[in-house]
Amino acid sequence: MPAAVLVGAQWGDEGKGKATDLLGGDVDYVVRYQGGNNAGHTVVIGDQKYALHLLPTGILSPEVVPVIGNGVVIDPGVLLSEIDGLAARGISAERLLISSNAHLIMPHHKALDKVTERYLGKARIGTTGRGIGPAYGDKIARMGVRVQDLLDPGILAKKIEVALTEKNQVLTKVYNRRGIEPERVLEEYLGYAERLKPHIADTSLVLAKALDEDKFVLLEGGQGTLLDIDHGTYPFVTSSSPTSGGACAGAGIPPNRLTKIIGILKAYTTRVGSGPFPTELTDDMGEWLRQTGGEYGVTTGRNRRCGWFDAVISRYATRINGITDYFLTKLDVLSGLERIPVCVAYEVDGVRHDEIPMTQTDFHHAKPIYEELPGWREDITGAKDFEDLPPNAQAYVRALEEMSGAPISAIGVGPGRDQTVVVRPLV
Ligand code: IMP
Repeated sequence: MPAAVLVGAQWGDEGKGKATDLLGGDVDYVVRYQGGNNAGHTVVIGDQKYALHLLPTGILSPEVVPVIGNGVVIDPGVLLSEIDGLAARGISAERLLISSNAHLIMPHHKALDKVTERYLGKARIGTTGRGIGPAYGDKIARMGVRVQDLLDPGILAKKIEVALTEKNQVLTKVYNRRGIEPERVLEEYLGYAERLKPHIADTSLVLAKALDEDKFVLLEGGQGTLLDIDHGTYPFVTSSSPTSGGACAGAGIPPNRLTKIIGILKAYTTRVGSGPFPTELTDDMGEWLRQTGGEYGVTTGRNRRCGWFDAVISRYATRINGITDYFLTKLDVLSGLERIPVCVAYEVDGVRHDEIPMTQTDFHHAKPIYEELPGWREDITGAKDFEDLPPNAQAYVRALEEMSGAPISAIGVGPGRDQTVVVRPLV
């Protein structure tokens, strides 16, 4: 059976949780392959709303095995409180598997994320402050603490000691902060170890066997294409690879297992944190989109920056990820608009760009070139089939599909589990 990837096609928050949930019935394993508790998925089931940060959305379906892959950075305290929060609502995390190779977010990562952002002042990235960047930094510098280290108290003590010998110098001497006591960290993390032990596994092997047994594995990315460390708007990006190429490395499965790459695309654009965003609306219209779309961060509660749909971005996402299908979300938010501008290209210093400019400097100066599409007044939240959508909404979807270069196979028309128009099956 195939493995499919779900990837955000813009700057994250496209509504991946809803797509995962839609596929839930067909899926045997849901794997998070990168990021950490910087992500936020909201899933609405009946009158219940679940906000997940670190746990794969598959946790909500009892027949699915949720997996945290090797590419994720895990804050064990946050993970356990998320597990406890779900348990209090009657949802068990017993099936959860955690890769022994995943890296741990340590207290010094969180401390450093906050102070370095403060230090950057106006040039700050606008991180979620969860220690994500510093944890990935240490992973690449080969100084990280991994989940498997929780199983060996001696090694864990040594790694914490080594890390803090350096990081405490940085915290105290560069940033004038208090140092962190290794003994306290060890005690805290040994406590986590006790509870996490039963979940730790060689998840790459588990997934290989599952695929051999014809199981369906869904790889779930956090963030989005434009926040990718390599392919995003660097340096205003996250520190991992949400794009489909990162899915294989972060889950430990080979590329030739992937058969579907599903891009999640919002019917307009949002972004959290700093960095270029050509179609951003800083006027009343932007505020209207924010309020109508409920565009407030699940993780940080920050206002999301809002703007019109950008087809240059979606074309780029199609190319970088090899998108086979799009799930277009939040189309209902646009109902009631007279006309809907869509960015089809940029203008940079008088020159038209049909693709994202090669340099970040040019991207910062990119001005959107808009085409206006006619809007619709009808409420579409009850639409079940594509034909139920008003003609102008159908035309909007068709135009986005054409401009993006991949088929739109599903359309979100409301936050509920059943508020999705399936044009063709996603898997
Ligand atoms: P970090 O991932 O916390 O290091 O933050 C780096 C950048 O990615 C910041 O601009 C964040 O706002 C953004 N970011 C991280 N996670 C998400 C997400 O799940 N949705 C949207 N933006 C995110």
